Amino acid sequence: MAELLEQIIQIVRQAGDIVRSARDIAAGTKEKSFAGDLVTAYDLAVENFLKEKLPPLVPGSLFFGEEEKENADPSRGWAFIVDPIDGTANFVRDLRRSAISVALARDAVVEYGVVYDPYRDEMFSARRGGGAFLNGAPIHVSEKPLAQGIFSMGTSLYRPEYFQRTMRLTEQLFRRSCDFRRMGAAALDFCDVACGRTEAFFEYSLCPWDYAAGSLLVTEAGGAVCALDGGPLPVVSLSGAWASNRVNRDILKELEV
Ligand code: IPD
Ligand code: CA
Ligand code: CA
Repeated sequence: MAELLEQIIQIVRQAGDIVRSARDIAAGTKEKSFAGDLVTAYDLAVENFLKEKLPPLVPGSLFFGEEEKENADPSRGWAFIVDPIDGTANFVRDLRRSAISVALARDAVVEYGVVYDPYRDEMFSARRGGGAFLNGAPIHVSEKPLAQGIFSMGTSLYRPEYFQRTMRLTEQLFRRSCDFRRMGAAALDFCDVACGRTEAFFEYSLCPWDYAAGSLLVTEAGGAVCALDGGPLPVVSLSGAWASNRVNRDILKELEV
């Protein structure tokens, strides 16, 4: 089914043109739950494009997108789990750190993952058991311990109840590392771990469309992912996530999480 991965990649690449063509983003931007939770006309345009193009690739498949979720259960059968623009706040501010994230799961197991950064033209892709790739070349996690590396984190901004724990864990990891980053697009944070640019990433509360594709990229690149309590990462519910190379996979056991 390498062909299916290629087909998904081609469609996601086309969706990237919509992101790159964006003009006057503010005009079509609305607040969702508060001023930091935004949706733009481009989130909707990308999602609609993917909703039209992806399901025909897998007859009977379900489309589960961030902006308009179908009223169905993505944990059964084939389901596309899609974040049309991960890093919307970056997109609105022209910070150029956003991505399109598409996972294809079967019975709640992610089989395919594609994350595309349209600004850098970087296409991350993985098929379960087939390795992870960046623009077609194999990628691998780094071999550095955290003491010689950096990690990225997310602030779970839509769930303020996690703020203190987020800061506490950040401080503990910071003291054991060279530095940390908060870059604002979780799907790309996973990809950075997958290709060895960072050693680890964590966030206390993520949605399936934030982590489904990226988590497969990390494991196929030789790394590890888990929930913050060390249990398996689910596929269809809110979850915290820890993604790391092999050397740092167990570091949370030594910390107050
Ligand atoms: C958000 C980004 C952000 C992360 C949030 C996500 P969105 O996704 O990935 O980095 O901290 O938890 O919800 O809202 O830009 O698609
Ligand atoms: Ca997201
Ligand atoms: Ca989004």
